[in-house]
Amino acid sequence: MPDKESHKILQTVRDFLKQEEDTYGPFQLPDIGKPESSGQTKTNIGKLEGSGHAEPADAGLDNVKRVEQAKTLEELRELCLNASELHTDLENTNLVFGIGNPDAKVMLIGEAPGSQEDKQGEPFVGRAGQLLNKILEAISFRREEVYIANILKHRPPNNRDPLPEERRRSLPYLYRQIDLIRPQFIVCLGRVSAQTLLDTNQPMKALRGRFHPFRNDIDLMVTFHPAALLRNPAWKRDTWEDVKMLRKRYDEKNGENR
Ligand code: URA
Ligand code: URA
Repeated sequence: MPDKESHKILQTVRDFLKQEEDTYGPFQLPDIGKPESSGQTKTNIGKLEGSGHAEPADAGLDNVKRVEQAKTLEELRELCLNASELHTDLENTNLVFGIGNPDAKVMLIGEAPGSQEDKQGEPFVGRAGQLLNKILEAISFRREEVYIANILKHRPPNNRDPLPEERRRSLPYLYRQIDLIRPQFIVCLGRVSAQTLLDTNQPMKALRGRFHPFRNDIDLMVTFHPAALLRNPAWKRDTWEDVKMLRKRYDEKNGENR
């Protein structure tokens, strides 16, 4: 295994390659493992971990039923608080349930909480969140007016991408959250959110720039993740086009009373 310094360099290279992949399409990347001195402890998820696409454990199934029957966001949040299957293998993280207007017409869905989000229990409150607030302002939405959530409700270690297993365990909760809010629009922030909700491996380039029908009557669109914009400001222009498209369709559906 690489030592800490080499691991950092490898991670940087890998992140760059992933960014290229998001733009140009998929290619294989080798797993670089964990740095030697990493203090990560192994999972508390037990037998669900690494079970591929197998059925969830029985306890998980019971929960899924309760989740589907949750009548309010508060009820769903309570279930999330007690759901061990929403945790990653990073221990002692806080639930980041989601925040905003329960009757929002626009729901934004990111990837997973980072360290600030974990500390405050609220999505998009770090640097990426501040940029997200500005993007919303630019199209005359207030943060309080929309609803903001993530694919995962707990922070992954080292901000790594959510694993397919983690996303699968989280989705019933997120789908219920979406069904309780009943938004007109969903905005997927970044590749992970888009590929998860659209159940595809297509790259960003193929998914942006149009509305995808989602869960009967929702217009789902995909744009760059604000953290990706901080790394690569050249993508801001496309993001601006994306959010203008959202505002236009929103106004067409709701009348332009602003
Ligand atoms: N990035 C995300 O995807 N979600 C957050 O809540 C914060 C940063
Ligand atoms: N990578 C991501 O995860 N999101 C983007 O928006 C672009 C690159």
